[in-house]
Amino acid sequence: MIEAWAMTSPSLASRLDRVKPSATVAIATKANELKAAGVDVISFSVGQPDFEPPAHILDAAKAAIDTGVSKYTATRGILPLREAVAADSKARRGGHEHSPAEIVVSVGAKHTLFNLALALYEEGDEVIIPAPYWVSYPEQVRLAGATPVIVDAAPEDGYKLSADALEAAITDKTKAVILCSPSNPTGAAYSPTEMRALADVLAKHDVWVIADEIYARLTYGEFEQKSLLELAPELRERLIIVDGVSKTFAMTGWRIGWMLAPAHVAKACDKIQSQSTTNPTAVAQYAAIAALTGPQEPIEAMRETFEARRARIVEGLNAIDGIRCGTPEGAFYAFADVRELVGKTGPAGVIKDDLALAGYLLDEARCAVVPGTAFGAPGHLRISYAASEEQIDEGLRRIAAAAAKLS
Ligand SMILES: Cc1ncc(COP(=O)(O)O)c(C=O)c1O
Repeated sequence: MIEAWAMTSPSLASRLDRVKPSATVAIATKANELKAAGVDVISFSVGQPDFEPPAHILDAAKAAIDTGVSKYTATRGILPLREAVAADSKARRGGHEHSPAEIVVSVGAKHTLFNLALALYEEGDEVIIPAPYWVSYPEQVRLAGATPVIVDAAPEDGYKLSADALEAAITDKTKAVILCSPSNPTGAAYSPTEMRALADVLAKHDVWVIADEIYARLTYGEFEQKSLLELAPELRERLIIVDGVSKTFAMTGWRIGWMLAPAHVAKACDKIQSQSTTNPTAVAQYAAIAALTGPQEPIEAMRETFEARRARIVEGLNAIDGIRCGTPEGAFYAFADVRELVGKTGPAGVIKDDLALAGYLLDEARCAVVPGTAFGAPGHLRISYAASEEQIDEGLRRIAAAAAKLS
């Protein structure tokens, strides 16, 4: 008999070699470990609202449990939820309609995007992703065997892709373009004119267009948020909109997201989902109906709170020597340019890049931030302002003190 210690195990699938684990989750885990050990860490790394969902949503979930919704549902989500999604989208996207057959509800928008990756991309395909990008886009493309083509959107352009850069990146291998507005990680959102310019390019090429509009209801000030569907209805047969309840309704843990897509794409994703999760959790679907159809005032109150915090954090960051930060149009992230701090020397040596800087801020300032490298934008930090005003003020004070120690 072979001793247990001498046994080898079969290899893991090689596709794992192509994929990185989520950097944002890794930082949050380290910060949580420190917190659990009693260290007073301020978390600016989270990608979720720090509010609870409004009470009527929780009540709807409780009522659903009491009335017995404990069984499997339709793979693509219950009809009343898809009808609610359709009505919400029509109201917010210039009256353009989707039928329930063009909607698939999944276990969060991340799952929606994963279904799409499996349904649309294969080996030899290129998928254009503007950087800074949300961490999961390129990894999902790789998992599907295709190649992410990262196109840099420069700080001087507000981290937004220009029509020329998009045009130059499209080849005959391009299968899809993923656009995210407002963006995670930068908070940048395309104005109707900027988006229309991208649409003009997209209209000329036979590519899928994936518009991640999960932050669309979180925009601030005078910014005019318009869906790509409303601005370029001619793209409809190639346009897939991704949305969900996580950010707008502070419901990240409920795991409900969806796509609005041409019916044959929806059918393909339904097929994939039927062999993976079967359906999104039944109770969460009822909560999502309440979110979409219930009173929207609590949502507006959360948005206003984020707007006030945005001003506070942007002003505070710009007051720190070596940090520059534009005013993001939406989401709840500030994207700070820290290239002036990189290369400086701290108590433990040279800060060689943004990863080292994030590590230094966690050790020295007890503030968790996410290095821009995770989003394809070295020399930056993503600072989430899904934190209370007290935490923001204290965190800024600590970051300023830590930055002042670098020379
Ligand atoms: C840009 C973007 N898209 C999609 C998602 C996925 O959201 P969820 O899976 O919680 O619906 C996130 C979450 O961080 C995100 O930031």
